[in-house]
Amino acid sequence: AEPGKVKLPSEQPGSLFSLTPFLPVHLTGTKYSCGSGGCGACTVMVSRYDPKTKKIHHYPVTACLVPICSLYGAAVTTVEGVGSIKTRIHPVQERLAKCHGTQCGFCSPGMVMSIYTLLRNHPEPTPEQITEALGGNLCRCTGYRPIVESGKTFCAVSYDKKYFFNSYTSLSISEVPFVFCFVEMCTKLYNEDEFQPFDPSQEPIFPPELIRMAEDPNKRRLTFRGKRTTWITPVNLNDLLELKTNFPEAPIIMGNTAVGPSIKFRDEFHPVFISPLGLQELYFVDSTDDGVTIGAGYSLAQLNDALHFIVSEQPKEKTKTYHALLKHLRTLAGAQIRNMATLGGHVVSRPNFSDLNPILAAGNATINLISKEGKRQIPLDGRFLEKSPEANLKSEETVLSVYIPHSTRWHFVSGLRIAQRQENAFAMVNAGMSVKFEDGTDTIKELQMFYGSVGPTVVSASKTCQQLTGRYWNDQMLSDACQLVLDEIYIPPDAEGGMVEYRRTLIISLLFKFYLKVRRGLNKMVRTTSLGLWAPWPSGHEPCLRTAGNKITCFVHEQCVDPYQPPQDPVGHPVMHQSAIKHTTGEAVFVDDIPPISQELFLAVVTSTRAHAKIILIDTSEALALPGVADVITAEDVPGDNNYQGEIFYAQNEVICVGQIVCTVAADTYAHAKEAAKKVRIVYEDLEPRIITIEQALEHNSFLSAEKKIEQGNVEQAFKHVDQIIEGEVHVEGQEHFYMETQTILAIPQEEDKEMVLHLGTQFQTHVQEYVAAALNIPRNRIACHTKRAGGAFGGKVSKPALLGAVSAVAANKTGRPIRFILERGDDMLITAGRHPLLGKYKIGFMNNGVIKAADIEYYINGGCTPDESELVMEFIVLRCENAYYIPNFRCRGRPCKTNLPSNTAFRGFGFPQGIVVSEAYITAVASQCNLTPEQVKEINMYKRTSRTVHKQIFNPEPLRRCWKECLEKSSFSARKLAAEEFNKKNYWKKRGLAVVPMKFTVGMPTTFYNQAAALVHIYLDGSVLVSHGGCELGQGLHTKMIQVASRELNIPESYIHLSETNTTTVPNATFTAGSMGADINGKAVQNACQILKARLQPVIRKNPKGTWEEWISEAYEESINLSTTGYFKGYQTNMDWKKGEGDAFPYFVYGASCSEVEVDCLTGAHKLLRTDIFMDAAFSINPAVDIGQIEGAFVQGMGFYTIEELKYSPEGVLYSRGPDDYKIPTVTEIPEEFNVTLVRSQNPIAIYSSKGLGEAGMFLGSSVLFAIYDAVAAARRERGLTKTFTLSSPATPELIRMTCVDQFTDMVRVVRRAPY
Ligand SMILES: Cc1cc2nc3c(=O)[nH]c(=O)nc-3n(C[C@H](O)[C@H](O)[C@H](O)COP(=O)(O)OP(=O)(O)OC[C@H]3O[C@@H](n4cnc5c(N)ncnc54)[C@H](O)[C@@H]3O)c2cc1C
Ligand code: FES
Ligand code: FES
Repeated sequence: AEPGKVKLPSEQPGSLFSLTPFLPVHLTGTKYSCGSGGCGACTVMVSRYDPKTKKIHHYPVTACLVPICSLYGAAVTTVEGVGSIKTRIHPVQERLAKCHGTQCGFCSPGMVMSIYTLLRNHPEPTPEQITEALGGNLCRCTGYRPIVESGKTFCAVSYDKKYFFNSYTSLSISEVPFVFCFVEMCTKLYNEDEFQPFDPSQEPIFPPELIRMAEDPNKRRLTFRGKRTTWITPVNLNDLLELKTNFPEAPIIMGNTAVGPSIKFRDEFHPVFISPLGLQELYFVDSTDDGVTIGAGYSLAQLNDALHFIVSEQPKEKTKTYHALLKHLRTLAGAQIRNMATLGGHVVSRPNFSDLNPILAAGNATINLISKEGKRQIPLDGRFLEKSPEANLKSEETVLSVYIPHSTRWHFVSGLRIAQRQENAFAMVNAGMSVKFEDGTDTIKELQMFYGSVGPTVVSASKTCQQLTGRYWNDQMLSDACQLVLDEIYIPPDAEGGMVEYRRTLIISLLFKFYLKVRRGLNKMVRTTSLGLWAPWPSGHEPCLRTAGNKITCFVHEQCVDPYQPPQDPVGHPVMHQSAIKHTTGEAVFVDDIPPISQELFLAVVTSTRAHAKIILIDTSEALALPGVADVITAEDVPGDNNYQGEIFYAQNEVICVGQIVCTVAADTYAHAKEAAKKVRIVYEDLEPRIITIEQALEHNSFLSAEKKIEQGNVEQAFKHVDQIIEGEVHVEGQEHFYMETQTILAIPQEEDKEMVLHLGTQFQTHVQEYVAAALNIPRNRIACHTKRAGGAFGGKVSKPALLGAVSAVAANKTGRPIRFILERGDDMLITAGRHPLLGKYKIGFMNNGVIKAADIEYYINGGCTPDESELVMEFIVLRCENAYYIPNFRCRGRPCKTNLPSNTAFRGFGFPQGIVVSEAYITAVASQCNLTPEQVKEINMYKRTSRTVHKQIFNPEPLRRCWKECLEKSSFSARKLAAEEFNKKNYWKKRGLAVVPMKFTVGMPTTFYNQAAALVHIYLDGSVLVSHGGCELGQGLHTKMIQVASRELNIPESYIHLSETNTTTVPNATFTAGSMGADINGKAVQNACQILKARLQPVIRKNPKGTWEEWISEAYEESINLSTTGYFKGYQTNMDWKKGEGDAFPYFVYGASCSEVEVDCLTGAHKLLRTDIFMDAAFSINPAVDIGQIEGAFVQGMGFYTIEELKYSPEGVLYSRGPDDYKIPTVTEIPEEFNVTLVRSQNPIAIYSSKGLGEAGMFLGSSVLFAIYDAVAAARRERGLTKTFTLSSPATPELIRMTCVDQFTDMVRVVRRAPY
């Protein structure tokens, strides 16, 4: 662009505010997943030259929040610039792929960019730096372990190699060659020797013209003019002040991490922006004897570096404020945001959740302001933070810097916070506190307390502090302080963010932590006065933070490939995902990466804002008048069925949930479509009843289907002969799929015969075809669905793409133009719903020795407003609810409730992860009643020999027993349990807990025809083979396994075989890719096709046994042998008779066990996962790398489900959690500090190569974390004299944990009166 004045060619609302739309269209690597800076999928590297230091600064940013104009003079490196399969792949890309760090690959380019940027700054990073660099990148598939491991291969001292080995293996590294099989245990999934070396000197140089530009002494003001907005970059400080005088209302844009989201999500508009980013005068550190002044332009990452330097230089007593800031800087957002956000921006934007402002205020920081009028200083104090007008900046003022004084010997400063997730999550409550003492005493001279996230601004507890001045730092003071602060800081019952009791408890719990910490410091300096009410038990003040750069151990699989297996046969080997390299280079094409199609239109949705209402009016006139809008599509435009099988495509006459699609707007750009969608006016009239919860549905008798019931023995009779009976209820909340690629559809109407082509990521193409055909009223043979890959699915892409496919096809049909329909993250979360919340009620009869004699269980799930898969989910829950336990008199009933919520759907595990928590809960309750451990009760009641399930299917639990036993033994459960008890005795405020859960899981469907599959295999004349089958690639490595199958069956190398995509024109009527059976059934079909071909080739081979494959193929062709065939698998023979409650419902069972250990901080409810051991019965794994990836990924997803993932609805049925800011999936810091996965060998002759489907089973094993938390909380409660059994619902969020660890603080909150003002 021409320096000086640049005019942007076109401008869409908000487009200046994201680099993403400006990336050249054919660069597919930078992904878009959330648009709010919260997921890292769009990470790119920005490099800038600093003319002052003459250094180049590389840093990661999230492209979705980087204003394009802010990049003037910067070099941007996207994943394409790092490496490509067309040129050369970079070691970062290669290692991420080869370490199996990609599954669906949607997060992979972002991961590559985060590691790559780190390496540009630190060619030999430490393990801690790797995890820190990845903290802002979400991955929903892998569970992070392999990603971290790939990064660690760059660490300086080839980081402790034993980490590669499971702690059960006693062999040292030198004894272990890379072979897949040694002794009995195999531990490696890749060969490090294959990695290309990393040579940092080979990286591209920084463009010299940018250096020249940066050093140009004649720089001028830059102005970028768009249609609605103007962006101005001042040339120097005077220019900035001039601009600020001329445009006092214009925001100063620095990192854009506060302004950007406001524009995007809160419709903020500014005609002028002033961006002094890079202005030298704002970047400096000035250290004096009293303190340090830091330029407002410093990013939070630079602030972090500067503070680290200062604390290394200064004596400890002077650096208490800096230490407090550093602690919070570590967890504030991810590395990308920390590199974008600036100190000035943070201080001025004053978010109510700010992690830094409370500490700065407590540390008596001041703000240096400048304007044309001159300079002045204002205190960064309570009045400033509470936004008192008289304490504010004037509109023409700019923050030049922030001054932070050193602390002193008698001055203590601390920062405290608690968030749903340890890192990259806004605090639920945070605080900055400081106290100054009269020299040599414990008399308070000055006390300051600031709290964040307790109101619309950060607030100061100034009255409390004043009243406590002059008091001794003792327990009486603390007791009064708690009362006073609770009176002063009032959170109204209907406060935004909810959790009122919890947040009030945190206010005083954090104060107590501060008290303890100061007390500990004081004790070393002065004789303190009375100890009384609350003895300062050790450990209370320390946060429950995970060790950075966690030690991650790994996996063992008891699988040895037969030494006589031909070397080219890949079955049983840890073959890399077929698309892994393309994932990491960003060249793997997802639907949104398909280049624009001529005439295409973008679709935006208008969704219902009422849970149950009559539609009185839909006024589209204003929307239709807007530029670029082609049409508005409503129910009227559906030529066929608009209500097909109970699923409504466009709402008609009435709406039945918030989030239901009422109409869509088609326009030339997405921005235009979205703008217009906001202008569609809908008038509603609320209808009764509005049913949101399961309880309300029960009241109204509102169900989606009839009861499903299964029963054995005589339950009523048995209850009469037991020692004890307990009854209870368990609530398990729902879960959002949070696949990284949101639902995306490209629907292209064809010229002829009403044909329609759809490209989409789905798990069930046949379903899409069916719904589109129904909506358009045309036969299915006119509709072609193509799925190359989906960026994660987890059940969320089984039924919903059919609905969304129909919605887009109707739009394509009406407009006659291709439709690109990409759901924004918020819309995706709102419309597509997720896992069913569940209510389980149990009545259990048992003997005092722990033997359970009778169980009567009732289940209800919240199905939402339409049938979807809810009935089937309930069937699965009922069929599998006994889990691993034999209860002779057993009755289980269940019904899906119909409510006015978006319709819940399939989700990995299909009801099992919710349902079985109830079984584990009552087992734990029985244990508590019998004074036994849960493990003892589990052992006593577990199936021990070949038996029949409750639905009368015969099975042999031997692998279950083995997994259970080994899990207990190899995890040293008993010894660690004792150690945890010892730990608990010594720590009042921290508790450790352990739990082991066994699992009997099922694969496949209770109906044979659902288990069928087909394949189509072509051999071409050069010998290359094209395999197609009905399964979809969702990241689970299905295509990779199918290539392994074809390679073995045809006896040719994998490189001969290609698998391009799944589509309905090659393999019709395919069943869903779900239920852990993708590889099972499609593998059989591919095997069948290959065997047919191999049989056809036999005569040719016999004639020329020494011939090559290519020779046989050309000979076969010459002999007119058909080189193409379909393969077919009829399906496993399964059946279920619900009338009798009997049937061989499942082809086979998968067994497993998992042991987890956690440490809980009773004062905040935070926990850390110390260790997990998983034993999974894999029979013979076709690809151990893929299977271990599935187990680990599912475990971490399960762990998230049971602990931190929390969907929040209003009582009116409005979903609040619509993005990564308010829905927290695990990040790299949540995974176990030590993680061992073992594949246990068994037999499964029914399945291909005696393998087992492992896609879902790991999910439930995540509940070992829930029950370990339960164990820890129970220990806390026992110590507090609460021995009664309690129910811990799921998820065990920090709120739930804290409020269950009842103590004097929770008591105080419950009794404290409302504040008088
Ligand atoms: C994904 C994500 C996660 C986050 N997580 C956390 C977290 O965990 N904890 C936390 O505390 N914060 C968090 N934040 C908030 C973040 O810290 C702030 O958004 C950030 O510090 C603002 O800085 P900025 O440079 O981006 O400001 P900008 O958005 O550029 O500007 C913000 C405001 O400050 C004004 N301004 C900027 N610089 C100056 C100046 N020099 N003089 C006068 N006015 C100025 C602007 O006019 C504007 O009004 C998160 C943000 C995101 C996007
Ligand atoms: S898309 Fe940019 S961070 Fe999620
Ligand atoms: S591989 Fe990370 S999101 Fe799928």
